Amino acid sequence: MKKIAVFASGNGSNFQALVDAEKQGDLQVSIELLVCDKPNAFVIQRAQAAGIPVYSFNPKDYSSKEEFEREILHELANRDIEFIVLAGYMRLIGKTLLHHYVNKIVNIHPSLLPAFPGKDAVGQAIEAGVKVMGVTIHFVDAGMDTGKIIAQEAFPIPPTATREKIEEEIHKIEHSLYPKTLNYLFYQ
Ligand code: GAR
Repeated sequence: MKKIAVFASGNGSNFQALVDAEKQGDLQVSIELLVCDKPNAFVIQRAQAAGIPVYSFNPKDYSSKEEFEREILHELANRDIEFIVLAGYMRLIGKTLLHHYVNKIVNIHPSLLPAFPGKDAVGQAIEAGVKVMGVTIHFVDAGMDTGKIIAQEAFPIPPTATREKIEEEIHKIEHSLYPKTLNYLFYQ
Protein backbone atom coordinates (compact mmCIF):
# COMPACT_ATOMS: atom_id res chain seq x y z
CA MET A 1 0.00 0.00 0.00
CA LYS A 2 1.36 3.43 -0.98
CA LYS A 3 2.31 5.44 2.11
CA ILE A 4 1.20 9.05 1.76
CA ALA A 5 1.27 12.26 3.78
CA VAL A 6 -1.51 14.81 3.35
CA PHE A 7 -0.64 18.50 3.74
CA ALA A 8 -3.45 20.90 4.71
CA SER A 9 -3.86 24.36 6.25
CA GLY A 10 -7.51 24.82 7.15
CA ASN A 11 -10.86 23.13 7.48
CA GLY A 12 -9.71 19.88 5.93
CA SER A 13 -12.86 18.63 4.21
CA ASN A 14 -10.65 17.15 1.45
CA PHE A 15 -8.44 15.49 4.07
CA GLN A 16 -11.60 14.00 5.60
CA ALA A 17 -12.80 12.77 2.20
CA LEU A 18 -9.46 10.98 1.68
CA VAL A 19 -9.57 9.46 5.16
CA ASP A 20 -13.17 8.27 4.63
CA ALA A 21 -12.35 6.84 1.18
CA GLU A 22 -9.37 4.97 2.64
CA LYS A 23 -11.53 3.57 5.47
CA GLN A 24 -14.23 2.46 3.05
CA GLY A 25 -11.68 0.73 0.85
CA ASP A 26 -12.27 3.18 -2.03
CA LEU A 27 -8.74 4.61 -1.85
CA GLN A 28 -5.85 2.17 -1.95
CA VAL A 29 -3.34 4.12 0.16
CA SER A 30 -2.20 4.36 3.73
CA ILE A 31 -2.49 7.91 5.10
CA GLU A 32 0.42 7.95 7.53
CA LEU A 33 0.69 11.62 8.45
CA LEU A 34 -1.04 15.01 8.35
CA VAL A 35 1.34 17.94 7.89
CA CYS A 36 -0.19 21.28 8.89
CA ASP A 37 1.32 24.78 8.86
CA LYS A 38 -1.47 26.26 11.05
CA PRO A 39 -1.31 24.85 14.58
CA ASN A 40 -4.96 25.84 15.27
CA ALA A 41 -6.49 24.54 12.03
CA PHE A 42 -9.60 22.36 12.29
CA VAL A 43 -7.98 19.71 10.09
CA ILE A 44 -5.78 18.77 13.09
CA GLN A 45 -8.88 17.76 15.07
CA ARG A 46 -10.04 15.67 12.11
CA ALA A 47 -6.70 13.82 12.06
CA GLN A 48 -6.78 13.24 15.81
CA ALA A 49 -10.33 11.85 15.56
CA ALA A 50 -9.17 9.51 12.80
CA GLY A 51 -6.07 8.41 14.75
CA ILE A 52 -3.68 9.81 12.14
CA PRO A 53 -0.39 11.30 13.42
CA VAL A 54 0.00 15.06 13.00
CA TYR A 55 3.09 17.14 12.38
CA SER A 56 2.17 20.80 12.80
CA PHE A 57 4.50 23.76 12.77
CA ASN A 58 4.39 27.55 12.62
CA PRO A 59 6.43 28.91 9.68
CA LYS A 60 7.04 32.09 11.71
CA ASP A 61 9.26 30.08 14.06
CA TYR A 62 11.76 29.44 11.23
CA SER A 63 14.12 31.75 9.41
CA SER A 64 13.42 30.24 5.98
CA LYS A 65 11.26 27.84 4.01
CA GLU A 66 14.27 25.60 3.62
CA GLU A 67 14.61 25.32 7.39
CA PHE A 68 11.04 24.16 8.03
CA GLU A 69 10.96 21.95 4.94
CA ARG A 70 14.06 20.13 6.23
CA GLU A 71 12.13 19.29 9.37
CA ILE A 72 9.13 18.14 7.34
CA LEU A 73 11.45 15.98 5.25
CA HIS A 74 12.79 14.38 8.40
CA GLU A 75 9.22 13.55 9.54
CA LEU A 76 8.41 12.10 6.12
CA ALA A 77 11.58 10.00 6.05
CA ASN A 78 10.85 8.64 9.55
CA ARG A 79 7.57 7.26 8.23
CA ASP A 80 8.81 6.12 4.80
CA ILE A 81 6.38 8.47 3.06
CA GLU A 82 6.44 7.84 -0.70
CA PHE A 83 4.01 10.48 -1.93
CA ILE A 84 2.70 13.90 -0.84
CA VAL A 85 -0.92 14.96 -1.36
CA LEU A 86 -1.70 18.66 -0.92
CA ALA A 87 -5.29 19.24 0.16
CA GLY A 88 -5.81 22.94 0.85
CA TYR A 89 -2.15 23.53 1.82
CA MET A 90 -1.91 27.28 1.23
CA ARG A 91 1.84 27.55 0.76
CA LEU A 92 4.21 27.12 -2.16
CA ILE A 93 6.33 23.98 -1.94
CA GLY A 94 10.04 24.83 -1.90
CA LYS A 95 13.03 23.19 -3.51
CA THR A 96 13.90 21.06 -0.46
CA LEU A 97 10.70 19.01 -0.75
CA LEU A 98 10.50 19.24 -4.57
CA HIS A 99 13.99 17.83 -4.93
CA HIS A 100 13.21 14.78 -2.78
CA TYR A 101 9.74 14.12 -4.18
CA VAL A 102 10.17 14.60 -7.93
CA ASN A 103 6.77 13.97 -9.60
CA LYS A 104 5.55 12.68 -6.25
CA ILE A 105 3.59 15.71 -5.06
CA VAL A 106 0.06 16.48 -6.24
CA ASN A 107 -2.32 19.35 -5.51
CA ILE A 108 -6.02 20.04 -5.86
CA HIS A 109 -7.12 23.49 -6.97
CA PRO A 110 -10.65 24.94 -7.22
CA SER A 111 -10.50 26.19 -10.81
CA LEU A 112 -9.96 24.93 -14.33
CA LEU A 113 -6.22 25.63 -14.47
CA PRO A 114 -4.42 27.40 -16.05
CA ALA A 115 -7.28 29.83 -15.32
CA PHE A 116 -7.32 31.44 -11.88
CA PRO A 117 -4.20 30.13 -10.12
CA GLY A 118 -3.27 31.23 -6.60
CA LYS A 119 -5.44 32.51 -3.81
CA ASP A 120 -9.25 32.77 -3.90
CA ALA A 121 -9.68 31.04 -7.24
CA VAL A 122 -13.46 30.99 -6.75
CA GLY A 123 -13.56 34.74 -6.12
CA GLN A 124 -11.39 35.34 -9.20
CA ALA A 125 -13.72 33.20 -11.35
CA ILE A 126 -16.88 34.96 -10.07
CA GLU A 127 -15.26 38.35 -10.68
CA ALA A 128 -14.44 37.31 -14.27
CA GLY A 129 -18.04 36.15 -14.82
CA VAL A 130 -17.13 32.71 -16.14
CA LYS A 131 -20.02 30.40 -17.03
CA VAL A 132 -18.13 27.15 -16.44
CA MET A 133 -16.03 26.40 -13.39
CA GLY A 134 -14.30 23.32 -12.08
CA VAL A 135 -11.59 21.52 -10.20
CA THR A 136 -8.04 20.56 -11.25
CA ILE A 137 -5.65 17.97 -9.85
CA HIS A 138 -2.06 18.50 -10.96
CA PHE A 139 1.55 17.63 -10.24
CA VAL A 140 3.36 20.24 -8.19
CA ASP A 141 6.36 22.09 -9.55
CA ALA A 142 8.11 25.27 -8.40
CA GLY A 143 5.41 27.56 -9.84
CA MET A 144 2.05 28.67 -8.49
CA ASP A 145 -0.43 25.96 -9.64
CA THR A 146 1.55 25.42 -12.85
CA GLY A 147 2.42 21.70 -12.83
CA LYS A 148 1.18 19.17 -15.36
CA ILE A 149 -2.55 18.52 -15.16
CA ILE A 150 -3.70 15.02 -14.19
CA ALA A 151 -7.50 15.42 -13.96
CA GLN A 152 -10.18 18.06 -14.33
CA GLU A 153 -13.92 18.19 -13.84
CA ALA A 154 -16.10 21.08 -14.95
CA PHE A 155 -19.63 22.25 -14.14
CA PRO A 156 -21.87 25.00 -15.54
CA ILE A 157 -22.71 28.08 -13.44
CA PRO A 158 -26.42 28.96 -13.49
CA PRO A 159 -27.07 32.73 -13.65
CA THR A 160 -28.57 32.71 -10.15
CA ALA A 161 -25.76 30.76 -8.45
CA THR A 162 -24.43 32.20 -5.19
CA ARG A 163 -20.82 31.88 -4.05
CA GLU A 164 -22.02 29.48 -1.35
CA LYS A 165 -23.68 27.17 -3.92
CA ILE A 166 -20.61 27.28 -6.17
CA GLU A 167 -18.32 26.36 -3.28
CA GLU A 168 -20.66 23.53 -2.31
CA GLU A 169 -20.47 22.12 -5.83
CA ILE A 170 -16.67 22.49 -5.93
CA HIS A 171 -16.27 20.58 -2.67
CA LYS A 172 -18.65 17.85 -3.83
CA ILE A 173 -16.54 17.35 -6.97
CA GLU A 174 -13.24 17.56 -5.09
CA HIS A 175 -14.24 14.94 -2.54
CA SER A 176 -14.95 12.32 -5.18
CA LEU A 177 -12.36 13.36 -7.80
CA TYR A 178 -9.34 13.29 -5.45
CA PRO A 179 -9.62 9.64 -4.28
CA LYS A 180 -10.50 8.51 -7.83
CA THR A 181 -7.50 10.33 -9.31
CA LEU A 182 -5.05 9.02 -6.70
CA ASN A 183 -6.17 5.44 -7.37
CA TYR A 184 -5.68 6.09 -11.08
CA LEU A 185 -2.21 7.55 -10.53
CA PHE A 186 -0.99 4.73 -8.31
CA TYR A 187 -2.66 1.74 -9.94
CA GLN A 188 -3.49 2.63 -13.56
C1 GAR B 1 -10.14 23.32 -1.51
O1 GAR B 1 -11.22 23.83 -2.26
C2 GAR B 1 -8.89 23.29 -2.37
O2 GAR B 1 -9.14 23.07 -3.72
C3 GAR B 1 -8.34 24.67 -2.15
O3 GAR B 1 -8.53 24.91 -0.78
C4 GAR B 1 -9.74 24.27 -0.40
C5 GAR B 1 -9.50 23.56 0.91
O4 GAR B 1 -10.71 23.09 1.46
N1 GAR B 1 -6.96 24.74 -2.51
C6 GAR B 1 -6.39 25.82 -3.05
O5 GAR B 1 -6.97 26.84 -3.27
C7 GAR B 1 -4.91 25.63 -3.39
N2 GAR B 1 -4.43 26.69 -4.20
P1 GAR B 1 -10.69 22.04 2.65
O6 GAR B 1 -9.74 22.59 3.73
O7 GAR B 1 -12.11 21.99 3.13
O8 GAR B 1 -10.21 20.74 2.10
